Amino acid sequence: MTKLAFIGGTGLTQLSGFNISRRETLKTPYGNPSAEFLIGEFNGHPVIFLARHGNPHTLAPHKINYRANIWGLKQLGVEDIVAVAAVGGITEAMVPAHIAFPDQLIDYTYNRIQTFFEDENYPVTHIDFTFPYSPSLRNALIGAAAQAGIAISPQATYGCTQGPRLETIAEIARMERDGCDVVGMTGMPEAALARELGMNYASVSVIANWAAGKSAGEITMAEIEQNLHLGMANTAQLLQAFIAG
Ligand code: HPA
Repeated sequence: MTKLAFIGGTGLTQLSGFNISRRETLKTPYGNPSAEFLIGEFNGHPVIFLARHGNPHTLAPHKINYRANIWGLKQLGVEDIVAVAAVGGITEAMVPAHIAFPDQLIDYTYNRIQTFFEDENYPVTHIDFTFPYSPSLRNALIGAAAQAGIAISPQATYGCTQGPRLETIAEIARMERDGCDVVGMTGMPEAALARELGMNYASVSVIANWAAGKSAGEITMAEIEQNLHLGMANTAQLLQAFIAG
């Protein structure tokens, strides 16, 4: 079986029903990963779990060492990564607690190290990124959602902002004009780094709130937590169906 990893985002620091058999603290040439890599079984299937923001959740999106995380997963033999992330909903279907599997992305981040191939030790490398998310993993997720009876959006464009602040109304309006359906802060460079190392990568984007200006008033942490509670319960079920499939 191909080796599978889940990266857990906000609201998924721990995966319930996951039986941990081993913990790996890896040092990488790029520094320390966000947390220990947890190796174990989920629903009877082998899986590696990494808490993207650390455990407990202490790393802001711009402080995450994306290279160390992806490098570490590669060292452990991972081939497929299903990355769970909390996002804001921009377009109509992206209601709070809903789940989308993005098929495209736009990167608005800055000052993040975007590549493993940055010095003279590597030949200049331009990965193909026409389809940033693995079609086969996305299809498997779509099948799992149908199996579990969970309504999802099978396509979406993910816009990645720098954070850690949330966006302004004008920024979200611009992202909508650009074609973004959801907005998050951690999708890049994670997806590109996985591609650089030849790993399949897909995102389970869980809508935590309406993005700025898409509902009346300001965005509160209480609202985010409440929506994520529901969205992550569905995500756990989705991942069970995914791993069983
Ligand atoms: N914007 C950016 N990232 C997010 C949001 C948001 O509204 N909600 C959850 N992650």
